[in-house]
Amino acid sequence: MSTGIRPAARVRALPENFFGSLDRAVADARARGVDVIDVSKGDPDLPTPDAIVASMRAAVSDAGNHGYPAYAVRPALAEAIAKRYREDHGVDLDPDVQVAAFHGSHEGLMAAVLSLADPGDVVVVPDPGYPAYRGAAGFAGARPHPVPLPSALGHQPDFASLATLDRAAVLLLNYPHNPTGAVATRTTFERAVAESTRLGAAFVNDFAYSSLGFSARPLSALTVDAERTVEVSTLSKTYNMAGWRIGYAAGAPDLIAAMRAYQAHAFSTIFGATQDAAAAALAGDQSAAEALVDTYRARRDLVVDGLRQQGWDVAPSDGTFFVWVRVGGDDVEVAAHLLAHHGVAVAPGSGFGERGRGRIRLALVHPLPRLADLVARLAAARRTLTATPKPV
Ligand SMILES: Cc1ncc(COP(=O)(O)O)c(C=O)c1O
Repeated sequence: MSTGIRPAARVRALPENFFGSLDRAVADARARGVDVIDVSKGDPDLPTPDAIVASMRAAVSDAGNHGYPAYAVRPALAEAIAKRYREDHGVDLDPDVQVAAFHGSHEGLMAAVLSLADPGDVVVVPDPGYPAYRGAAGFAGARPHPVPLPSALGHQPDFASLATLDRAAVLLLNYPHNPTGAVATRTTFERAVAESTRLGAAFVNDFAYSSLGFSARPLSALTVDAERTVEVSTLSKTYNMAGWRIGYAAGAPDLIAAMRAYQAHAFSTIFGATQDAAAAALAGDQSAAEALVDTYRARRDLVVDGLRQQGWDVAPSDGTFFVWVRVGGDDVEVAAHLLAHHGVAVAPGSGFGERGRGRIRLALVHPLPRLADLVARLAAARRTLTATPKPV
């Protein structure tokens, strides 16, 4: 007998988790015995550096971490975040009021949108872009409004397309950019701040790939503005700590205060040991994080050069660990074909928005020999796909 209970409208309205359905397709193929090369998700393959693991061990053994932690970010972690901004970006932050910590940047992004957007408000999101932005807008009862990132503009925003908007609560960008691998120009951030000012919006830059720039250290939006801007970042990618669930936000004190207030009520507190280990990671020796950039650069070169030699149309990737490939035709069908016939799991571009249609995203989360195998499999795939759908 049915209880008549149904989930709340905000849950009923949720799209199926994009990455969850990819996981299921990969698991099914593996269950059929297929040797799948899974490049569908941005889950780092390398372990967390030993020194950070050692800090966590010590922090877990500290009985002082076994009780409830304080709501506010620990001072040592706030200071470590401020230190990275000072040393890496030349940005001075007040750790008392300009920094917050979250269980990963996903939660930080939720806190940003939910603490700044009211029902009916507009949240400008990049298209293509990380699917969670639209989910966050939906939870807030806000309307996601895509700003296109055309390849002709090097995947920088087409701000002219926002001319019809006269108000928004949040303008959200993400550089270095998932899924295209584009990095921001200073002009992009200057125009984003100007456009946010015109719209009365907060500017949020998702800086999850803050350390992964191949030509230069990625630009922080806080070098342009810290009055209406917050940047959300994470330890997941920089230190291979995706499973640890720790991230942070930095920037305008008013916005950080709103995010902290939302977080305390919605997500409560963060395990003290995780905060201690994160502080050690951010404040300590950065050589492992720097070496990781070289690792991903070599992987990028192998895959981008290899695919281009085969005639694939590959976007220039100057940051993140993603490669964005135009396939033409229906990207969902192409992805299904690659999994079924070549044992390659990719993310179909349409999961990132309208402007992702006809593209696929590859994540460089395997060692070079496995990526060489990927390139070889995609060479075979290109031959079979050249009929229909046709790569362009
Ligand atoms: C652009 C972007 N933002 C945020 C996240 C969330 O990362 P986390 O919650 O692990 O910090 C990801 C993860 O892949 C991402 O690609």
